[in-house]
Amino acid sequence: MKVDFILGISWGDEGKGKLTHYLLQSNLYSHVCRVQGSQNAGHTIYHNGVKYVTHIVPAGVFFGVKSIIAPACMLNVDGFFKEMEGLKNQGIDCEKLVKISTNAHIITQKHIEEDSKDTEIGTTKRGVGPCAADRYRRVGIQAKEIEALKPYLVDFYDEVIKNNDATILTEGAQGTELDIFAEGYPYVTSSHCGVAGALLNGIPHTAIRHVYGVAKVYTTYVGNMKFQPEGEIYKQIQEQGEEWGATTGRKRQTNFLDTDQLLKAIRINAVTHLIFNKIDVFRELNCWKLIEKGKIIDLETEDNFKRFIYQKCGNEMDLTKGYIKFSDNPYDI
Ligand code: IMP
Ligand code: MG
Repeated sequence: MKVDFILGISWGDEGKGKLTHYLLQSNLYSHVCRVQGSQNAGHTIYHNGVKYVTHIVPAGVFFGVKSIIAPACMLNVDGFFKEMEGLKNQGIDCEKLVKISTNAHIITQKHIEEDSKDTEIGTTKRGVGPCAADRYRRVGIQAKEIEALKPYLVDFYDEVIKNNDATILTEGAQGTELDIFAEGYPYVTSSHCGVAGALLNGIPHTAIRHVYGVAKVYTTYVGNMKFQPEGEIYKQIQEQGEEWGATTGRKRQTNFLDTDQLLKAIRINAVTHLIFNKIDVFRELNCWKLIEKGKIIDLETEDNFKRFIYQKCGNEMDLTKGYIKFSDNPYDI
């Protein structure tokens, strides 16, 4: 069994959906698994020129690949059926491909009501935090208890892990800095967004093949933490990058890439392949800045900017086994 992981290595919204879609074109995978999070995620995918936004349904459905919602995930049943219906109406044949792990947890109306009262963290109000709390208090509801989900249910171990021939792509949600253990607590989500979180589903660590870390050439964050510094450039990045949430439509705060944060995320997750999206935004603004040891540095040209990042991140990775790439929005890698 082999597993390739796709992870956000910032605060989410790095363009993981785009990379998932790109990697699936290679036709190498037997399963695509969503391994954590819930309908708080919004993955934007362009398939045959049409835009789709998925929340819990794994992107394997666009390529006829078995798409499994793993045990660590949480889902609201109505939201799941709505998303499936929407995809079917857009011509995506997902009915037979999507399976839900029997022990994934269910987000109830009560969870959503409780989450909708949040004014502190700036959650997506999808009920994720209250559902996670109930899970760990051991009073939660599991998918196997829901009659309407019966046709979709599988045992994750039987379906995926026991299968020696499985080649799995995991579709991470949110990002390393939104992990519940991350520095920004409490302005984080309630799941584990790195490789460790994916492994919690029962994936053996020896199955790890590639770890794809996805970032943008700048950072963004949605929520109540103060993230964006004062200054015109940050507003320009927000506008040029069309930075508002795929799930809630909220404006994303912006900042420059911080190399310390980047290296930490690469190290923690042992990233083998690193993809920086939205370089076109910096090209358009002719802005080539990042943060190094707490200070903004101006690298002035695209070449210098790339070279700086190749050098910094390349030192942390084994580039004989992986790569560092910069990518335009929305198609190429
Ligand atoms: P929750 O996950 O809805 O509880 O929200 C907690 C924090 O994580 C908030 O700041 C959200 O904006 C952020 N968040 C949750 N999911 C995503 C995502 O998929 N992309 C970006 N931010 C997210
Ligand atoms: Mg998103």
